[in-house]
Amino acid sequence: MDRPIGILDSGIGGVTVLKEILKLLPHENYIYYSDSLHNPYGDKRKDEIFKYVDAIVQFFLEKNCKAIVFACNTATALAIQDIRKKYPQVMIVGIEPAYKMVYDYASCKKTLVMATPATIHSEKFMHLFHQYDNGNTILLPCPNLATYIEQGENQKIEKYLKEVLPKEKIEVVVLGCTHYPLITKQIEKILGKVLFYDGGKGVALRLKNLLAEKNLLTNSTLGNLSFYDSSSNSIKEKRFFELLK
Ligand code: DGL
Repeated sequence: MDRPIGILDSGIGGVTVLKEILKLLPHENYIYYSDSLHNPYGDKRKDEIFKYVDAIVQFFLEKNCKAIVFACNTATALAIQDIRKKYPQVMIVGIEPAYKMVYDYASCKKTLVMATPATIHSEKFMHLFHQYDNGNTILLPCPNLATYIEQGENQKIEKYLKEVLPKEKIEVVVLGCTHYPLITKQIEKILGKVLFYDGGKGVALRLKNLLAEKNLLTNSTLGNLSFYDSSSNSIKEKRFFELLK
């Protein structure tokens, strides 16, 4: 079997990234790792997130992965630089809030960036924000939101969004957490029609280009996907495969 690609998230939210990857690379083998034993990551310290992600990366290396995707904005923001330093032998691609897309395609528009507190307050995101700041952006850290999405608690999600989303007119929403593309309908119910940007497509393209550059694309026509959850939660697995459909 061809060497797999490891995809990690704190939970099942990374399914939104995997879907984009599968559109471009349907024949690769994948191992998806959901760290539900330790989620949410979004309220954790940098050293804790590094420790959890480091263990997952070691697991992927034992499985002989040819590339690793951080399908988690929080893990990218807090740990990717140190993980890349520790494991220079493996290709690591990470998702980050698609704020540059606002600069490229919607620069004057009233923008809302939603992400976990850890992502919003990270040095990495602050750097990106200051580089592309359109002077018309609200940054909204959303503690607990990923957990409600992870657990499929729709009533809590709607109540939460009603409380935290701004009352003023928003034109663009940057979904800076891989769980959030799962609740675009609920967001629009409150904000009205908006333009959503997330980093999923960009990561998929970057992964494809890097694999091609290094001659690592598979020749096979049969892809395989296995799912691991750190708390062996079978409900998570069931939901993951439902969301993947
Ligand atoms: N899905 C993750 C992200 O993209 C984090 C969710 C969490 O565990 O807080 O940031």
